[in-house]
Amino acid sequence: MLLRGTMQVNPAGELEIGGITASTLAGKFGTPLYVIDEALFRENCRRYREAFGPDNRVVYAGKALLCTAVCRLAEEEGLCLDVASGGELYTALKAGFPPERIYFHGNNKSPEEIRQGLEAGVGRFVVDSLYELDLLSRLAGEAGKRPVILLRLTPGIEAHTHEYVRTGQIDSKFGLPIATGQALAGVRRALACPNLKLLGLHCHIGSQIFDLEPFREAARVMLSFAAEVQAATGWFPEELNLGGGLGIYYVSGDDPPAIEELAAAVLGAVRQTCAELGVPQPRVVVEPGRSIAGPAGTTLYTVGAVKEIPGVRLYVMVDGGMNDNIRPALYQARYEAALANRITDEPTATVTVAGKCCESGDVLIQNVRLPYPAPGDILAVPATGAYNYTMSMNYNRLPRPAMVLVKEGRAEVIVSRESLEDLVRNDRVPDGLWK
Ligand code: LLP
Repeated sequence: MLLRGTMQVNPAGELEIGGITASTLAGKFGTPLYVIDEALFRENCRRYREAFGPDNRVVYAGKALLCTAVCRLAEEEGLCLDVASGGELYTALKAGFPPERIYFHGNNKSPEEIRQGLEAGVGRFVVDSLYELDLLSRLAGEAGKRPVILLRLTPGIEAHTHEYVRTGQIDSKFGLPIATGQALAGVRRALACPNLKLLGLHCHIGSQIFDLEPFREAARVMLSFAAEVQAATGWFPEELNLGGGLGIYYVSGDDPPAIEELAAAVLGAVRQTCAELGVPQPRVVVEPGRSIAGPAGTTLYTVGAVKEIPGVRLYVMVDGGMNDNIRPALYQARYEAALANRITDEPTATVTVAGKCCESGDVLIQNVRLPYPAPGDILAVPATGAYNYTMSMNYNRLPRPAMVLVKEGRAEVIVSRESLEDLVRNDRVPDGLWK
């Protein structure tokens, strides 16, 4: 298992994160437990800011990992924030995140969500459709506001990633396609809306991308479109938002580019294309989520039942599963793991890590090499900071895990463990339904 951030192995052969052993964390806070390495989260933010420089902007994509404390970290590191729903916006505002640094995304924002964004004074609405353009224009007029908008476009780029997380191709629910003329129609319509200030263009080509070429290509396609728009209308984007998507290491063989390499590729492509087209260079905006939060998170589980089917498979059951990490079931995502309480023991067994849901597909990892596991061992699954907590659920009425932030030997709860009481909080029994 790759050690990252502040992870280290102490002299007793135990995994430490943020200067605390996994077994201490498990003992104090219980399992399953999401552990966030504050130093690594901050370092990733800083690397993005430094690599893209002061003239450009880094927007943290909250869908990867969001709670009040995480908003505060992103704020302190000087990032902007991408929210994709009224719930994410509410969380950001509760955290005191400056509204002018918020980008409001979503392909079907409700009138209530739009009003919420207008009232808060979010910095940018990223408008996804002509329907939203008209709705936002009307609601902005009613509120007496003139929000700044970006138009989300689909540049028609296929990034090599899982089908469910690909978004840049034409056949997508997101954005206005360039190829069909809808993007140009959107720009014209936005320019004709006196209540809206069209500042720029946006695209997002997918997630968990290892190849830099699709990012360069997206920059070229978007800028070529911008040049056409300029010729047709005189308007040119001040801001070019190229979305997120940089991949991270999950398992051996994964070889993602560094943040700095992404920045060099994107900024280089923008510079070169602008020179070739003879257009001004817009401010470049990127929206990383996974590559900031993913590596900073580790999930700790306690091993329960160990079931060996002779000659077939060794199952290790943990006290979480698809509730706290849906990614293996949804995307066939792969993970590494280690027995954190004895990480230096020789791996002698090939095991399948299964969760506790009533679902055969609730398997977190197939065939991982571990020391022969025993009930009570602590299993650590790294790289679970992004799209784990935010996609968690209560199937089988399992309470969601707690989340702790660790740093220099200290651990603070940033999301409490759900209680059994939380699970029935919204249940109602209509009066008179039963005697
Ligand atoms: N910007 C926009 C408009 C997005 O839709 C996304 C992700 C991002 C930025 C951040 O992308 P990232 O840097 O995290 O790749 N649940 C899937 C990933 C879905 C990504 C959705 N959009 C997964 O677990 O792999």
